[in-house]
Amino acid sequence: MPDESTFEEARAQFPVLERVAYLNAGSSGPLTRATVEAMNAEEDRNLYEGRMGREYIERYLALRAELREILGGLVGAEAQRIALTASTTEGCNIVLAGLDLDEGDEVVTTTDEHFGLLGPLHASRARVVVVPPDPELIAAAVTARTRLIAVSQVLWTTGAVLPVHELRDQTGVPILVDGAQSVGAIPVAAAGLDFLTISGQKWLCGPEATGALVVAEPERLRVARPSYFSQESYDPDGAFVPQPGARRFDPNWVPTSSLAGLRAAIAGQPPWGFERAQAQAEHCRELLGAAGQDLVTPTVRGTLVSWRPDEETAAVVERLGSEGVLVRDLPGTGLVRASVGWWTSRDDLERLVAGLTSGSS
Ligand SMILES: Cc1ncc(COP(=O)(O)O)c(C=O)c1O
Repeated sequence: MPDESTFEEARAQFPVLERVAYLNAGSSGPLTRATVEAMNAEEDRNLYEGRMGREYIERYLALRAELREILGGLVGAEAQRIALTASTTEGCNIVLAGLDLDEGDEVVTTTDEHFGLLGPLHASRARVVVVPPDPELIAAAVTARTRLIAVSQVLWTTGAVLPVHELRDQTGVPILVDGAQSVGAIPVAAAGLDFLTISGQKWLCGPEATGALVVAEPERLRVARPSYFSQESYDPDGAFVPQPGARRFDPNWVPTSSLAGLRAAIAGQPPWGFERAQAQAEHCRELLGAAGQDLVTPTVRGTLVSWRPDEETAAVVERLGSEGVLVRDLPGTGLVRASVGWWTSRDDLERLVAGLTSGSS
């Protein structure tokens, strides 16, 4: 994406936006034409040239290496600290399995985490200490048994931003940061964080089942779920020499089309994206507030906007959907959530407010 591209040019990359107000990148972002063309080109190559041979493998490995550079570049991490995963959930599972926690250990998390983080925490066998997502309460929950703080940088419920670097510094406890709602939405720095997950399909607008795990010190985490990519060499009994860096955690063979699609998607992110997304999210809050909606307004916030409608949330989502406005409800919370991206237009936000007001009149 050339730096000088205008909002209209950048937005025009997404055909779906011609039809709907797409306010759900927190689940899956919209796709650009270039992303899908890149995916199709890879599949065409596979179709006509096959998926075998030295040239194919070399291209594939080069693409993986390039993606490590690109994803690392997004968060200021060196490529050798990047494992290519299929999701945030997979990244959390790699970390929790590798830490070898047991019943005597504790992990501290919050009430507002996604199951993609909570599930792996629970499966670790450590005692999971759950506190409200307040930095002081998180720090206060740390004991001599705490082996990990595991929290989202941006909560998927309210859009609140947690001070993850400060928590790490203040407590001295290793931190696993769920970056599903932060990477691609707000500026994120991996420096100082022990583990950071990236979801490709959300704010980066990449293909499904793409993502990464940033590991600050790969040599200090056990490879608990080895794949063929994990080893540099191995013995007949399976004992292996791990690959250098975080490559050792690569869990699977990501389709070439997905890698090429993610590369194209990231290349399509404009340099002014963060600033515009933040401004549009604020604008969304202003419009919803002015329309009398009961907004959740965290002090430090990302690009998710949540509110508590006075009707049943599923009904609100369905009605908006029928009017071409895509938002989601957060089951069990009474909240409806709009994901506001750099591609969101004023018209999208006005459609959202009009859709809400039409239902309550
Ligand atoms: C905070 C958070 N963590 C994890 C996930 C799961 O992401 P993935 O599908 O990449 O595992 C989500 C998805 O909505 C999320 O919002």
